[in-house]
Amino acid sequence: MNENKTSNQMWGGRFASGPAAIMEAINASISFDKKLYAQDIRGSIAHSEMLAETGIISREDQEQIAHGLNTILSEIESGKFEFSAQLEDIHMNIEARLAELIGPAAGRLHTARSRNDQVAVDFRLWVKEELQRTDAALVALIEAFLAKAEAHAATVMPGFTHLQTAQPVTFGHHCMAYVEMFARDLSRVRDAIERMDESPLGAAALAGTGFPIDRHMTAKALGFREPSRNSIDSVSDRDFALEFMSLAAICATHLSRLAEEIVIWSTPQFGFIRLSDQFSTGSSIMPQKKNPDAAELVRAKTGRVNGHLIGLLTVMKGLPLAYSKDMQEDKEAVFDAAETLDLMVAAMTGMVSDMTINEQAMKKAAGSGYSTATDLADWLVREAGMPFREAHHVTGRAVALAEQKKVSLEKLSLEDLKAIDERITDAVFGVLSVNASVKSRASFGGTAPAEVRRQIRYWRSRLKRGARR
Ligand code: ARG
Repeated sequence: MNENKTSNQMWGGRFASGPAAIMEAINASISFDKKLYAQDIRGSIAHSEMLAETGIISREDQEQIAHGLNTILSEIESGKFEFSAQLEDIHMNIEARLAELIGPAAGRLHTARSRNDQVAVDFRLWVKEELQRTDAALVALIEAFLAKAEAHAATVMPGFTHLQTAQPVTFGHHCMAYVEMFARDLSRVRDAIERMDESPLGAAALAGTGFPIDRHMTAKALGFREPSRNSIDSVSDRDFALEFMSLAAICATHLSRLAEEIVIWSTPQFGFIRLSDQFSTGSSIMPQKKNPDAAELVRAKTGRVNGHLIGLLTVMKGLPLAYSKDMQEDKEAVFDAAETLDLMVAAMTGMVSDMTINEQAMKKAAGSGYSTATDLADWLVREAGMPFREAHHVTGRAVALAEQKKVSLEKLSLEDLKAIDERITDAVFGVLSVNASVKSRASFGGTAPAEVRRQIRYWRSRLKRGARR
């Protein structure tokens, strides 16, 4: 069509021909929206059935349309379908092929419909399915953590603040912190499904249609709870995509914090965990190395997911109602965020299930850094009736002495402790070990093994009930 135009001398270098080729390059979305083929065909079949049921098209035409669309579905799935950039997008590629297959009846499919509501319904169906995949993937990740927490409900490790040893905790308790985080992500997924569960089909270009369509029928056929209530909003809304990406970004951020901990824990200096060979790699030059590449990549891919959220927010922020072509840019962001998140969750589930815990190293570290100092102060409050501030001061002196003698708190002698405060008795040694320390923290949500086991039981039953909150 534009063979006789030469490409622009200044900027047309990479284009074989003139402006029309550039237009096609910027306009066509088929290279990425072909991912929506199954949703597009489902939407079209539901639409055609409704058109026949309401008498807008004949039953014979509808049968031909449905047959043709099913043929196209198998052509695409067997790789025989030829996608064309000249036909712009998935909607027009399928419709053009339908015309080749069934002739004039194909032209009746687009009655009472526009590509605007068509793409909105396709994309919603796709995002909803992705949310359902994410739901299942998060449940698997949470279950992996529950299994680890159960096995290590009483395994002690140092708890950190500022990445400095703070107080002993159990590894099970630390795992359950991630269960809380991923369960919140899961509830965001379920909330998002609930909110986006409306069918935009039938909004047509933006104003609805004069044909006597039945939007409730198509909504039901496509598995949506109900049709959307405003035709303008139906074709201009991409909140469902933004909401998916924002929950994906929060979830990715959780995964990234976990990845960072895995990187730290698996260093020889910490030695808290050992990753399985399946989730680590060797170095091409240093034979002794075992690198946590999968964890590092999970940490890095968070950047992509977070970036896609900002990308689409920025696309949407200046758009007047209703549809603008800008919105075609929603798909690559969502597809890549989805693919990336799926991979991240799967990799983490594998890493968490397969990693081995070095209980010895965790216990040794748990006892270092005077991690039971708070237990000493609490004992002084409880047993000697000291105000907490005074107990804090006395404990500080005990820590200083232990530091000077290069021993742990529990290795100070009773005489040493009495010299600091004569109210201290040998009963204090009952609280200075890390095991005693974690066992004592049995407040609701605390780190005591019994409390951790209660948390595990709570989540197991809540997951079984499939509860959102
Ligand atoms: N490929 C388009 C998109 O993804 C389909 C909708 C086109 N609508 C239109 N009015 N040009 O947004």
